Amino acid sequence: MPIVIVVGAQWGDEGKGKVVDYLAEKTDLVVRFQGGNNAGHTLVVDGKKVALKLIPSGILRNGVRCLLASGVVVDPIAFIQEIDELSRNGITISPKRLGLAGEIQLILPYHKALDTSREAIREGDKLGTTGRGIGPAYEDAVSRLGVRLIDLASFQYLESVIARQVEEKNRYLKSVLGSSFEFSAEAILADLKIAAERLLPYVTNVSLELEDVFGRNGDVLFEGAQGTLLDVSHGTYPYVTSSNTLAGFASVSAGFDPRRIDRIIGVCKAYCTRVGEGPFPTQDNGADGELMRQVGQEFGTVTGRPRRCGWLDLVALKKAVRLNGIDQLVITKLDVLSGFATIKLAVSYMLDGKEISELPISSFDVARAIPCYDEMPGWSEDLSSVRSFDELPITAKEFLRVVGKLLNCDIFGFSIGPSREQTIIV
Ligand code: IMP
Repeated sequence: MPIVIVVGAQWGDEGKGKVVDYLAEKTDLVVRFQGGNNAGHTLVVDGKKVALKLIPSGILRNGVRCLLASGVVVDPIAFIQEIDELSRNGITISPKRLGLAGEIQLILPYHKALDTSREAIREGDKLGTTGRGIGPAYEDAVSRLGVRLIDLASFQYLESVIARQVEEKNRYLKSVLGSSFEFSAEAILADLKIAAERLLPYVTNVSLELEDVFGRNGDVLFEGAQGTLLDVSHGTYPYVTSSNTLAGFASVSAGFDPRRIDRIIGVCKAYCTRVGEGPFPTQDNGADGELMRQVGQEFGTVTGRPRRCGWLDLVALKKAVRLNGIDQLVITKLDVLSGFATIKLAVSYMLDGKEISELPISSFDVARAIPCYDEMPGWSEDLSSVRSFDELPITAKEFLRVVGKLLNCDIFGFSIGPSREQTIIV
């Protein structure tokens, strides 16, 4: 039965949550495999807004079990708040519905302080992180200085690690970063004691759970966070997040045979956005970009920052298709383009007087690349009540066809609004 991975094909915020929510109806497990509470999606279910940061969108479907795999980083306090917030909205989270890999690395208060203090001193050269401590938590993981979720069960060990870490981080924050943050091991341990009580019941062996579902021919959906161009190895480095966002990482993170994957679905908007710093060749600082931001309500779910907007970049998308192995695309927010007389598609770039068709490896070169656009006629109709491909205006159909053809992908679906009924599978 299908093992499907859903990934963002741009710089995040493509609307993956909507697609996962749709597909989750017929799946056994939804697994998140990287990132932390830097991600966030707002779903509209029965007219009610539900904000999710760490918990997979599958949680909104009855009977679906959700897992966070080892490659996710969890801020225990933020996570408990998210569980409580969902409960207040009538969505009860229990270990029956949600499991957390014991290998998960924790984001601790000093990680957030390191993240924001580093950003504060990068004058004129900020990364524009979400300030959630994501980078420092992944750093500690690979430096073997991290605290894993399962460590909450070994408090003596935890006491010694936290004491050592707090001493080191306090010194670094003060002397190297000139920061006024100072942490107490006792306070962190007190919070971790509460976290242990709340979170240990959720701990599971994700790899074994997957093996079990595979053995029963069950369906598994992997939910990517952020987007391909924020991948730490292949994105627009250093303006990236600190995890691998590509589909292939699902196998490493969750611990399963990559040959099991049946299908990889990429999600992209009908235009392009980026939040935070970093090169973005098709960014439009004029009226078109502003209109996309206002109509598309392009403000970050986690930080509220206005997103940078611009036309669809097929050069960047082609790279995303190749890096992930995307077979099918879902194009979201098609409705936002209603009213543009002409729609532009970047099909190559000019760099140093030469036309190129591949996103350069150097972010300095990406920043200098000038997009070459193809133009298509737009449509003026309001799409919000469209419920099938056939109901789309001819020019909108043509837009989807052209994008699919140029990227050599099937168009799996499109969306024309935030509610469940507005995600349409072709
Ligand atoms: P970090 O992940 O907080 O370290 O931020 C690194 C970069 O990734 C910044 O440019 C963020 O704006 C961006 N980023 C992180 N998570 C998301 C997301 O979920 N959507 C869009 N951008 C994100």
